[in-house]
Amino acid sequence: MIETIQPRHERLWRAWQDGSWDFAAYELGNLKGAFNRLGHAHPTQGNISLPDMITSVTEQPFNELGTAIQSKDGAAFAKAYTDLTDACNSCHQALNHGVVEIRVPNRTSTSDLGGTSAPRN
Ligand code: HEC
Repeated sequence: MIETIQPRHERLWRAWQDGSWDFAAYELGNLKGAFNRLGHAHPTQGNISLPDMITSVTEQPFNELGTAIQSKDGAAFAKAYTDLTDACNSCHQALNHGVVEIRVPNRTSTSDLGGTSAPRN
């Protein structure tokens, strides 16, 4: 996940900061693809279907991000990005990986990883 999902989540935010809507659309596609591959690679997590879990938490924010990018609507993008970040965390909490805290990057830290061990870049 750290190789495929996390950097794309972060780059999506950077694309929005830079106003690069084309790049945001590209990274959104990559992020969706990464989740699809993850679901195929790990069909179950414990006794939960990972693809179902992915769909249930990410479908709505992905749709909203797609619409925001298409209409170049920065405010809608910000809201949908926060919803997506909540989706990351709700799955981590549901699957006992609550220590992996994902957040919306900000001006002082462009990293999306919370906690003290988060890489800074
Ligand atoms: C459907 C459930 C689910 C969703 C949604 C989800 N994750 Fe995860 N995530 C996991 C599980 C399970 C693990 C622990 C297993 C692993 O490391 O692959 C994990 C681990 C991680 C890790 C720890 C690093 C690693 O790979 O060891 C990072 C970083 C991460 N997720 C980022 C994200 C981000 C960013 C999002 C949202 C864009 C997200 N995750 C959404 C299930 C999910």
